[in-house]
Amino acid sequence: MSQGKLITFEGGDGSGKTTQLSRTVAWLQAQGRDVLQTFEPGDTSLGKALRHILLSGEFVPAAQTELLLFLADRTQHVQEVIMPALEAGKWVVCDRYTDSTLAYQLAGRKLTDHAELRAMLKWAECGVSPDVTILLDLSVEDATTRMASRQAGGEIANRLDREKQDFHQRIHAAFDTIAQANPERVRRINANQDIDAVQADIQRILSAL
Ligand code: TYD
Repeated sequence: MSQGKLITFEGGDGSGKTTQLSRTVAWLQAQGRDVLQTFEPGDTSLGKALRHILLSGEFVPAAQTELLLFLADRTQHVQEVIMPALEAGKWVVCDRYTDSTLAYQLAGRKLTDHAELRAMLKWAECGVSPDVTILLDLSVEDATTRMASRQAGGEIANRLDREKQDFHQRIHAAFDTIAQANPERVRRINANQDIDAVQADIQRILSAL
């Protein structure tokens, strides 16, 4: 049995997730916790290659292929990075996990949701599921505005960021459904507040863990 905790961060592109995650890790470390910060896809050497295939835009995988590659990245990540850290008693803070696959591939790509597919998503986790998930909630309209200003400042959009508005709407709706179906695990936070207010909400939730 693992000793540590797995905390995942989820949300659409432009929700401020990465900034909040880094601040959360710094706060946990300041409290003396042994924390590992990680992300999907791409935080193993094999995953780095998968990330390039998935996000560079050099390849256009079929929807099913895309899903399988995200799962391949996850399994490698769990076995190589997450599981050993949990077994060592660390708190693992992970930028995206299975909820992203449910939202982006199943809902975003309109793959038919059926029990066998859900079972495969579970199987790819190798028995490691999040203790708590922070969902940063921001409307697609607000996220689009933020992304546009970041891109004007030089940030390069990945292949999925560049998808149309209705793809992002389906993802937003899917995260909503996930939150409703898992009220104990998934803690939704209004990301349309200033950075400090969002961080305070996150710290309040994690303090209760
Ligand atoms: P990334 O550049 O890591 O940043 P961010 O999480 O801030 O968007 O982008 C990862 C992309 O991969 C993002 O567009 C969501 C997508 N993704 C999926 O489509 N399915 C998945 O299972 C995961 C983990 C990520």
